[in-house]
Amino acid sequence: MILITGASGQLGQALTALCQRRGIACRAYSRQQLDICNQARVKACFDLESFDCVINCAAYTAVDAAENDPQTAFAVNAEGPRILAKSGVPVIHVSTDYVFDGKSSLPYGTDAPVNPLSVYGRSKRAGETALLSGGFSGLIVRTAWLYSKKAGSRNFYQTIRQLASKQNNLRVVNDQIGAPTLVDDLAKALVSLYEQKAHLKPMRLLHFTNAGSGSWYDFACAIVRHLDLSCCIEPIATSDYPTKAKRPSYSVLSLDSLQSYAIEPRHWLTALTEDSSHV
Ligand SMILES: NC(=O)c1ccc[n+]([C@@H]2O[C@H](COP(=O)([O-])OP(=O)(O)OC[C@H]3O[C@@H](n4cnc5c(N)ncnc54)[C@H](OP(=O)(O)O)[C@@H]3O)[C@@H](O)[C@H]2O)c1
Repeated sequence: MILITGASGQLGQALTALCQRRGIACRAYSRQQLDICNQARVKACFDLESFDCVINCAAYTAVDAAENDPQTAFAVNAEGPRILAKSGVPVIHVSTDYVFDGKSSLPYGTDAPVNPLSVYGRSKRAGETALLSGGFSGLIVRTAWLYSKKAGSRNFYQTIRQLASKQNNLRVVNDQIGAPTLVDDLAKALVSLYEQKAHLKPMRLLHFTNAGSGSWYDFACAIVRHLDLSCCIEPIATSDYPTKAKRPSYSVLSLDSLQSYAIEPRHWLTALTEDSSHV
């Protein structure tokens, strides 16, 4: 039985739906049902039922808001995963490309030095460190640029879809390079890792994104093309679109660590344009 936390987020929803379709036993809890920072609630949850794995989809993901609220970001992203792991049940935890500073021009390996630029990135790195140094079993799966095509979810795909339906022109940053990743594909990889019992070994890092890379501008153009919208997208520099939190200019993750699990991510353009019913 899998415990899924953060079940009302975009990854939590995709993972819960996938487990239900595949007949994999799971309990999925939203923040209202299980606050991962509440030690007593977490303990009560494990006392009540026997789980063989926790897949932690809960996180504080508001990258800019985190700059003004480091306490909450660290509580959820660093202390939360540690509280879950202390239950003794193996954890599959999800982390981020924002642990890197973007100074590389080659995909980051799982052993590449980290240097987060933002509070969000530092809080996620603190979560990684808590899990890696605690003697726990499980996996930390770093991912990037997550989006869901499901209406009502909050992500770059939905923002562009909404804006491009109303406006004739949009300006989008063209000097941050990453790998847009469909939540359904990440959910499928997490289930595959669980089915291969990869979470039963000592805690280590893996990377999963869709294959290939592009800028936010490339991603926006592909979304507009895919949805057959007529909006014109203008490429701009990061300096023309200042944000509170600094983001890495290059955060492509090497996918080599997936080879031993026979997981081969689709190209991000294929994931964007093909339907996801195969997962
Ligand atoms: N989104 C991206 O582009 C991206 C990129 C790289 C890595 N990631 C990582 O991927 C994972 C999934 O992200 P996502 O995009 O699915 O995020 P999301 O849609 O923001 O979902 C996160 C969920 O966590 C819940 N949550 C927040 N605090 C909690 C707490 N104390 N206890 C329990 N649940 C709590 C949130 O609930 P409320 O909505 O009620 O607050 C929300 O449902 C996260 O670890 C994230 O850091 C995301």
